[in-house]
Amino acid sequence: MLNCDIKDKSLAPKGKLRIEWADNQMPVLKLIRERFAKEKPLAGKKMSCCLHVTTETANLMRTLKEGGADIVLCASNPLSTQDDVAASLVVDYGIPVFAIKGEDRDTYYKHLIAAIEHGPDMTQDDGCDLVGLLHQNYRDTYLKNVIGGTEETTTGVIRLKSMEKDGALQIPIIAVNESETKHFFDNRYGTGQSTLDGLLRATNILLCGKNFVVCGYGWCGKGLAMRAKGMGANVIVTEVDPVKAIEAVMDGFRVMKLDEAMPSADIVITVTGDLNVVDRRHIEAAKDGIIIANSGHFNDEINIAAMEELAKSKRTVRDFVDEYTLKDGRRVYLLAEGRLLNLAAAEGHPAIVMDMSFANQALGAEYIVKNAAKMEKKVYILPKEIDNEIAKIKLKSMGIEIDVLTEEQKRYLASWQSGT
Ligand code: NAI
Repeated sequence: MLNCDIKDKSLAPKGKLRIEWADNQMPVLKLIRERFAKEKPLAGKKMSCCLHVTTETANLMRTLKEGGADIVLCASNPLSTQDDVAASLVVDYGIPVFAIKGEDRDTYYKHLIAAIEHGPDMTQDDGCDLVGLLHQNYRDTYLKNVIGGTEETTTGVIRLKSMEKDGALQIPIIAVNESETKHFFDNRYGTGQSTLDGLLRATNILLCGKNFVVCGYGWCGKGLAMRAKGMGANVIVTEVDPVKAIEAVMDGFRVMKLDEAMPSADIVITVTGDLNVVDRRHIEAAKDGIIIANSGHFNDEINIAAMEELAKSKRTVRDFVDEYTLKDGRRVYLLAEGRLLNLAAAEGHPAIVMDMSFANQALGAEYIVKNAAKMEKKVYILPKEIDNEIAKIKLKSMGIEIDVLTEEQKRYLASWQSGT
């Protein structure tokens, strides 16, 4: 009997079919899995993984296990777990999972602790909750044995870099998010499409003609704005970075302060990784019926406490839709309790993009095993050759061939004398 805490083992058959469906869209990871099965690069390594428990993550877990790792998986968000996937991982693949969709804060942390008590040599994290807890509470115990870890998302990387800056980071970490084959595709096209998927599944609204505000024009914001425009919404972008703001203008979006956008906004979605981006004063200025949601990592981009204070009543009107009625009768709809909408109300990113993200995760784990002895307590990016290799395999799987530099072109591009 595996040690685990999941919702219901009888959900396993449905989860297995969905894991296999995703696997069909993950050719790069499949190739890595086949190689790992032969070479066993992670043999004897204990891994504690804290990731969204989705079909794509299941295929990553299968890959690590084939590579010889002894793994435990816990959720990186209380609302993103797919219970059927958790069940199948336990029942069909023999992988211990600690994750239940909708778990409360105490259970979420209990599950993180269960993953830590696995006694990892390596970690995989999405948002730095696992590595943060290891550093805060287990510095003299479990952390000592950890040789390194990987981090999946922008917010986690920001936290780890500030740990490094403060001298607090005790292990080397590979920032998977910083690979180009990760954030160019996962953050942009993955979050762009799946956030709309979450919005539509939760609300079933028509997007065309709506004033759709995207807060933050980073990788995720660009994808979301692009896709919302494609569905016919009138997209407005808000930013704090002047360069990104110009980029949004030249990409064809209206850019203004959120204060200015709020009175006419039908939908506002945050993707900033920042705090209280939608604050009390914005909620006070909202028009009746506004929909507010977040697809950034943490649920603190919207000031939900202020929303609670401003409301005279609150009720759940659909799955993942809470209606707050303000004292003057205006209604504000908050989706998925302000947690990442694409994973809470939909299934997260399509497998075809997670294929590249998780290829980076698997190769990141292998890289740590090979290089830990010479790595410092820093945040690293995977070498460019690995990024390029993932892109090459992906192109091949899509049946796309590209040109290669001729010797003459290589010489030309490497020289400073020619061309004058
Ligand atoms: P990024 O750093 O590329 O972009 C964030 C943007 O938000 C920056 O341009 C920044 O200037 C802007 N910003 C910061 N504070 C702001 C404010 N008060 N108002 C308006 N704009 C503001 O980050 P990226 O990669 O786009 O990630 C954003 C968030 O989404 C992070 O929390 C990340 O972890 C998360 N994420 C979520 C995913 C999902 O599946 N939902 C997938 C990938 C990332």
